[in-house]
Amino acid sequence: MLKVCDVASLYGKVQVLWDVSIQVGEAEIVALVGSNGAGKTTLLKTITGLLPPASGTVEFLGRRIDGLPPHAIVELGISHVPEGGRVFPDMTVRENLEMGAYALKAWRERRRTLEEVYQLFPLLKERERQLARTLSGGERQMLAMARGLMSKPKLCLFDEPSYGLAPRVVAEVFRIICDLRERGITVLLVEQNVRHSLEIADRAYVLENGRVCLEGACGELLRSDFVRQAYLGL
Ligand SMILES: Nc1ncnc2c1ncn2[C@@H]1O[C@H](COP(=O)(O)OP(=O)(O)OP(=O)(O)O)[C@@H](O)[C@H]1O
Ligand SMILES: [Mg+2]
Repeated sequence: MLKVCDVASLYGKVQVLWDVSIQVGEAEIVALVGSNGAGKTTLLKTITGLLPPASGTVEFLGRRIDGLPPHAIVELGISHVPEGGRVFPDMTVRENLEMGAYALKAWRERRRTLEEVYQLFPLLKERERQLARTLSGGERQMLAMARGLMSKPKLCLFDEPSYGLAPRVVAEVFRIICDLRERGITVLLVEQNVRHSLEIADRAYVLENGRVCLEGACGELLRSDFVRQAYLGL
């Protein structure tokens, strides 16, 4: 479904990604793990057109998307939920969700999508009229994820959705990601919670200093000495 090939990305003259290649298949959860500053967020920005690659290619459903503007990439079915559960604080929960459906096709179907999203996040329905600024950190993260679904994506990119949340909420976030796979939505999951993400994902890539240093099925990675020592503290 998604094919990133030999990508290099730079901020001005500073190169952050080198020869990065990853693939995500339909209805898979693929985890992208790595320490602070490894380039995980940069890779997501490269995929969604916020930072077009300096070289290499990005293909989605068989079509080149590198070089397309971000809004066109959203229209093709990729949704990006950025770090930190950012929402519009002075808008209500419902208004935030509707903002997620601004893509032309999604807008026409927004009422039905809203019902589906409320099924996944019943708590947001209860708080529909509440201003986003009054939500707890966990609720805000749920809202950010729910808003990402309002564009009816085929592929969702989540950037550290569990960051800073209490364990109970973390479990809920991971459960929802598994639910999405059941519903046929493909997920590329960036996480620092390496153990938990490798437990729910199908395959994973480990990014270090802007390069993919390891990839494979999650079961194998959980057993590998490198991952156990570097990321699981075993
Ligand atoms: N806008 C920017 N301008 C210049 N350098 C940047 C910019 N954003 C990120 N960087 C640099 O690029 C490198 C990779 O950053 P990135 O945010 O992709 O890492 P990350 O893997 O997402 O880290 P974290 O786990 O802390 O979120 C870092 O060295 C960072 O300082
Ligand atoms: Mg990041």
